[in-house]
Amino acid sequence: MAQILVTGGAGYIGSHTARFLLERGHDVHVLDDLSKGFAHNVPEGRLHVVNLHDAAALDGLFGTHRFEAVIHFAAFIAVGESVRESERYFRNNVGGSLSLLEAMRRHHVRRLVFSSTAAVYGNPEQTPITEDSPVRPVNPYGESKLMTETTLRWLDECSALRFVALRYFNACGAEARFGIGEEHEPETHLIPLIFRAIRTGEPLTVFGSDYATPDGTCIRDYIHVSDLASAHLSALDSLMNGGSSGIYNAGTGKGYSVLEVIRAAGIVTGKEVPYKIGARREGDPAELVADSQKLQKTLGWSPRYDTLESMVASAWEFDSMRHGRD
Ligand code: UFG
Repeated sequence: MAQILVTGGAGYIGSHTARFLLERGHDVHVLDDLSKGFAHNVPEGRLHVVNLHDAAALDGLFGTHRFEAVIHFAAFIAVGESVRESERYFRNNVGGSLSLLEAMRRHHVRRLVFSSTAAVYGNPEQTPITEDSPVRPVNPYGESKLMTETTLRWLDECSALRFVALRYFNACGAEARFGIGEEHEPETHLIPLIFRAIRTGEPLTVFGSDYATPDGTCIRDYIHVSDLASAHLSALDSLMNGGSSGIYNAGTGKGYSVLEVIRAAGIVTGKEVPYKIGARREGDPAELVADSQKLQKTLGWSPRYDTLESMVASAWEFDSMRHGRD
């Protein structure tokens, strides 16, 4: 089985993917500077605390292992923060990726799976969104991911690098048997904030109820983190088998409104979700739903979780465990 480097493997999606790779028998090494991720997400003996800008440390890591591929998650992900601290986002997300790609070239590692985002589409003209829809990010976070995609396209053209970029829609849920789940500091994501509202009684603010959607609240395509992890394994298999580079949406193709997610959480937990309607959050598109046919057809991937309630239930299971833990 292969030696695989997972950057950002102490974060939410990266840590799930690392566990699935280990289950498959791969020799997984996690690189993370722990600026956002948590050491407790990484199995014993697998973590290298390294920042992507540290070329000497990268040389050390690549020099002592024979990585056959890299799965690259390490990035800042907060949209609002990216507007306020744009330079930091470009330096970390674009600069960090370049430093990694340079190290990969120095050490002849030629396969990369890259975590991209639906944010590259900005405010799409139509949904479901296909991969050939126009890319027009509306914030530096989305632009930083698009710039990295562009770099990868050119490296595919001009070098031996082959890559798969996965444009994630809304990751959610957890894999309870691994004891890991969604933990961000500060938390900005809907489902963990719904649970916080249930636990504290402090109402969740619904950001806008005047969108052009059936109930007026924003619609998103929620995909279970384990299904996202399995998309990375499919991408890796394709590259290991000599597959060509490609960019794929990763979603389920089903959209749910904020109020539908709140309702699902009420059913799953058996508790009232306190919420109030507030102003729109800047930069939120009304509806983001993926057309993921390309991922299903080309890489043979399919999602296991097909109901919102099953996804929310797995998130609640982790949230309850976490509150027992902390
Ligand atoms: N929402 C609320 N109240 C909250 C938090 C969220 O109403 O307190 C709403 C948002 O307005 C949005 C939906 O819940 O309509 C989902 O919001 P999240 O913050 O959970 O997720 P986003 O859709 O904003 O973000 C996700 C990823 C980002 C990525 C973006 C692409 O987490 O990394 O999709 O648009 F950039």
